Amino acid sequence: MSEPILVAAAWPYANAEIHVGNMTGSYLPADIFARYQRLRGRDVLMVSGSDSHGTPITVRADVENSTPYDVYQRYHAGFLEIFQKLGLSYDLFTSTHTVNHKQVASSMFMALKENGFLYKEKQLQWYSNSQNRFLPDRYVEGTCYICGYEGARSDQCDKCGNMLEAEKLINPKSKIDGSTPELRSTEHYFLDLSRLQDLVIHFLKMRESYWRPSVLRQSLGQILTEGLRGRPITRDLDWGIHLPQEIQQEGKEWENKCLYVWFEAVVGYLSASLEWSQLTGDKDAWRRWWQDPNARSYYFIGKDNIPFHAIIWPAELIGAGEQLDKNLGSKKPLTMVLPYDVPANEFMNLEGQKISGSRNWAVWVSDFLSRYDPDPLRYYLTVNMPESKDTDWDWDDFYHRNNDELVATWGNLANRILAFAYKHWEGIIPDPGELTRIDLDLLREVEAGFDTVGQELEAVRLRAALAEAMRIASEVNKYLDITAPWQTVKTDKTAAGRAIFTAMKAIDSLKTLLAPFLPFTSQRLNEFLGYSGNLFGTQSTETIKDELGEHTVLRYDPSSATGKWEPSQLKPGQRFLQPQPLFKKLEAKIVEEERSKLGKPKE
Ligand code: MF3
Ligand code: ZN
Repeated sequence: MSEPILVAAAWPYANAEIHVGNMTGSYLPADIFARYQRLRGRDVLMVSGSDSHGTPITVRADVENSTPYDVYQRYHAGFLEIFQKLGLSYDLFTSTHTVNHKQVASSMFMALKENGFLYKEKQLQWYSNSQNRFLPDRYVEGTCYICGYEGARSDQCDKCGNMLEAEKLINPKSKIDGSTPELRSTEHYFLDLSRLQDLVIHFLKMRESYWRPSVLRQSLGQILTEGLRGRPITRDLDWGIHLPQEIQQEGKEWENKCLYVWFEAVVGYLSASLEWSQLTGDKDAWRRWWQDPNARSYYFIGKDNIPFHAIIWPAELIGAGEQLDKNLGSKKPLTMVLPYDVPANEFMNLEGQKISGSRNWAVWVSDFLSRYDPDPLRYYLTVNMPESKDTDWDWDDFYHRNNDELVATWGNLANRILAFAYKHWEGIIPDPGELTRIDLDLLREVEAGFDTVGQELEAVRLRAALAEAMRIASEVNKYLDITAPWQTVKTDKTAAGRAIFTAMKAIDSLKTLLAPFLPFTSQRLNEFLGYSGNLFGTQSTETIKDELGEHTVLRYDPSSATGKWEPSQLKPGQRFLQPQPLFKKLEAKIVEEERSKLGKPKE
């Protein structure tokens, strides 16, 4: 059996559209990695869904005079559409607003309680007198008591990355109406992180050698300097996962509380895996990714999510232990596999400024896809992926990368070879005779790409992987400059056929090397080359009803996939088709057109 790889992609909040920064931050890298691992023959499970709870959705519903459920449904539907258009191959993209998720999140809560890692405590929370309710963390802004940043939220500072204790925030203001909230007492359940601290440190130390430095800094580094304290995991809210029945019986006030959205959203990776199992008809299938010690799980997230994935989620899993599986109904309960890697990305800015949805200073993925094809977006977002520092979306850069790299180095290469071969060899791959040194050198270089590109992908260095694949494409261009089959065909058709055969083999291999990044055009090239199968599986949606309503899921069916991470097996005499260009060359005027569509930059 092949290695189980869990690809866990961040769950988008169902109250905002997805922009290019979100896409390159977590969803696209997850897909590239999943596709690569599938080509390698690994057993991949890629899961995510809509993060459907939390106050932003409630606030938006109030503004729109609709319900949180309707807001969530609308954004969720939008996500499904763009994910399909962009080819994000989730085995399951679901939602946290499902009965299944509620059960798994409740099982997690109860397991932690049963193991003694929860306690109750009265807490001071910011209460809005103007609104007559407790204000959720992200609706209270003030000055960070650690670094002094003035735009900190009461639960987290985006400047220094620390999780904050709400009542210590300096100079708090309600984000809803600007009023000054007051502190009021309310009782909550707390996750006893101080008692899990040593185990979390041990977990992080075992991963220290290969995690990204920025992720370590915001997890291990932070714990070693600040230590961990108990964190409230319930909230005074009514949109969300209500507390388990046992807890609600503790008193009336517990009926009006929900699990803190972050506590339950991270459980989604597990609950989605269970839902996927149920849908495939093998209800225990998820155990392969969660209980086999050889399984590796990768969590693709943006840097603002680091503490939740590198501290809180592992702490939940460690604290719940076997009891979680017991609560899920297992007779022989086992513990769950902890995250193997959390390759968090930094942020992508836009034309030199922070992306801002409210000022429309953003490139929205759905809008982009109404004018351009998906692979150029995947290409640009990968060459510009904020893996180690913030990057910038720049329309002029997009235009040049499309025309000068994607089209010039790769698209034209494939098209030029195939069109020429089609014309002179009537759609039949020429017999090369005996290959010469220069042909063999090129093929060796291309074959080595399966190791060099593969190693970068394995280490989740996606930019470097794509750069290496493009370097190999340039080598093929150089090879053609030297062998010049367009010239030799007039004088020595055998030599021309040898070069064309070699080049066709090279682009056939490059098709695979580039397939994780450019799945749509690699598939088209696969067809031009005369293959009939699909490199990858197929996607479809399905609507499921339960007591919480209905939710449409996106699924991936791998059964028709034929792609393999191995060099071309192309043989002389095989038929191929007349090619068409894989990519469109863009006109220079799009740069100004697109810039004029942007909202206001900050003054
Ligand atoms: N909704 C969060 C965000 O977009 C991500 C949550 S990831 C989860 O930043 F696993 F916690 F759901
Ligand atoms: Zn701070």
